Amino acid sequence: MITASVPDYREAARRRLPRFLFEYIDGGSYAEQTLRRNVEDLSGLALRQRVLRDVSRLDLSTELFGQRLSLPLALAPIGLAGLNARRGECQAVRAAERTGVPFTLSTVGACPIGEVAAAASQPFWFQLYMIRDRTFMKDLLARAVDAACSALVFTVDMPVPGSRYRDYHTGLAGSGGLKGAAWRVGQAMLRPGWAWDVGLRGRPHTLGNVAPVLQGRTGIEDFFAWMRNNFDPSINWRDLDFIRSEWKGPLIIKGILDPEDAKEAAELGADGIVVSNHGGRQLDGVLSTARALPPIAEAVGDRLTVLADGGIRSGLDVVRMLALGARGVLLGRAWAWALATGGEAGIVKMLNLIEAEMRVAMALTGTTKITEINRTILAGD
Ligand SMILES: Cc1cc2nc3c(=O)[nH]c(=O)nc-3n(C[C@H](O)[C@H](O)[C@H](O)COP(=O)(O)O)c2cc1C
Repeated sequence: MITASVPDYREAARRRLPRFLFEYIDGGSYAEQTLRRNVEDLSGLALRQRVLRDVSRLDLSTELFGQRLSLPLALAPIGLAGLNARRGECQAVRAAERTGVPFTLSTVGACPIGEVAAAASQPFWFQLYMIRDRTFMKDLLARAVDAACSALVFTVDMPVPGSRYRDYHTGLAGSGGLKGAAWRVGQAMLRPGWAWDVGLRGRPHTLGNVAPVLQGRTGIEDFFAWMRNNFDPSINWRDLDFIRSEWKGPLIIKGILDPEDAKEAAELGADGIVVSNHGGRQLDGVLSTARALPPIAEAVGDRLTVLADGGIRSGLDVVRMLALGARGVLLGRAWAWALATGGEAGIVKMLNLIEAEMRVAMALTGTTKITEINRTILAGD
């Protein structure tokens, strides 16, 4: 199949990845209502077609946190994305660089910060979770500083993990020990391309930044157990002081879904927020980001940089999210699927598709610059 869209990459990833990995990426929490609403509420927004406006020159570039970007987007942090292709985060950071957008390395990426920094030639963003062990957090922040990361994305919507049923159905969660491992190996054997690329040639199979605290345990269930036991549910606004004392660069708080929380973030001097429900993977039933974004942008858009993610499956969706008030967006599953399908080149091609789709959406809504995109390009608004 020739991949011509983000949904095509999803289908290609389904055929390439072992089932437990595909479902881990694709799935959401509980009944997956928020996951579905993220996609449907965004794609359901009608665009307003305008004509005869000379759209021969379009400028899709923008500036975020002092960085000039060729497109108003960044690759979102995706835990374990590096398992989708050999040393996956290293391929992703290069793809992002080639396209002129930032890559965000997850705390729980498969490749550690140092390895990604060595693969990169420009600064990338680093995402941090609140972890009980503050010494470990300090160490991670010091590594992010050493790697010259250009922004810190502090994710606040996981004080406790939501349950994802699909992970139980595939043996990724809930079946530890030999049984779970045998189940996953069985699924991997049905995907020889992936088994060869990642299973055999993708070593070491340690778990990125977290490997030092796992003390030699390398199983995927060890990793999930670590997440369950070490993410800090006591996380609160005062913790931002701790982050600020260790991190002087741009600070972006990810996982804001309510205007009151957005105002708090602005009060405390965050440089940006990501309006996000973790791609529908945390509290199922919360608002889609397309619905949550407008009042938040209205409340704090003049005080900090509002980014948004969730359900973006095309360049048209990027334009819709900007129309709702975001200054830029994060792409989540889209890049994970593209990485699984075609590695670095796959992500570059997917981003080129997004750009081409954005160009058409901008041209036919009569906008020639990113700053011209606002609610007036939505029909019925
Ligand atoms: C498989 C997977 C793993 C994720 N891991 C992280 C993570 O480690 N840190 C984080 O802040 N967000 C994580 N997210 C959330 C994404 O950063 C992003 O908010 C979400 O994927 C956006 O929705 P979309 O996938 O519909 O684009 C993850 C999402 C997925 C799908």
